[in-house]
Amino acid sequence: MPKIGLVYIITALFFISCKSEKKEKDEIKIGAKQKEISSFDIGKKIFEGKGKCYTCHKIDKKSIGPGVVEIMKTYKEQNADLVAFLKQEAEPIVDPETYTVMKTNFAIIKTFSEEELKALEIYMTEVGK
Ligand code: HEC
Repeated sequence: MPKIGLVYIITALFFISCKSEKKEKDEIKIGAKQKEISSFDIGKKIFEGKGKCYTCHKIDKKSIGPGVVEIMKTYKEQNADLVAFLKQEAEPIVDPETYTVMKTNFAIIKTFSEEELKALEIYMTEVGK
């Protein structure tokens, strides 16, 4: 085989392998980013939208209910499970005296899927930092 042919093949292989490697990396990056955005965004959308949470819960101040920062501080300190609370499987630990007010919202919360409850937890953990 003439030398020039071999050089051509090696060069071609080099470019092919480079190209596919780059493509793979880009895909992984985009995939991770999309996943990260979606849970937080689903949580935010529910919190401000159909969950009506924002009517009673502001982020860093008390309104009708305690602020998200206060809630998450208590949950972190006591290593408590927010999803369990939302499923009514755990007792209130932030402000048990006004729990009856929070209770009125469980009719809505009951309709949420496990994934939506997790998304709410992710959103509240993030903004409550
Ligand atoms: C009608 C007003 C109201 C709405 C709407 C509401 N909450 Fe609350 N929430 C409260 C009040 C008042 C408390 C304080 C009583 C308590 O600690 O349970 C509270 C407490 C909480 C707590 C702390 C529970 C604990 O351990 O004490 C979490 C978590 C919470 N709310 C999440 C939510 C989420 C998520 C939504 C929306 C899906 C929501 N709330 C909607 C009034 C409300």
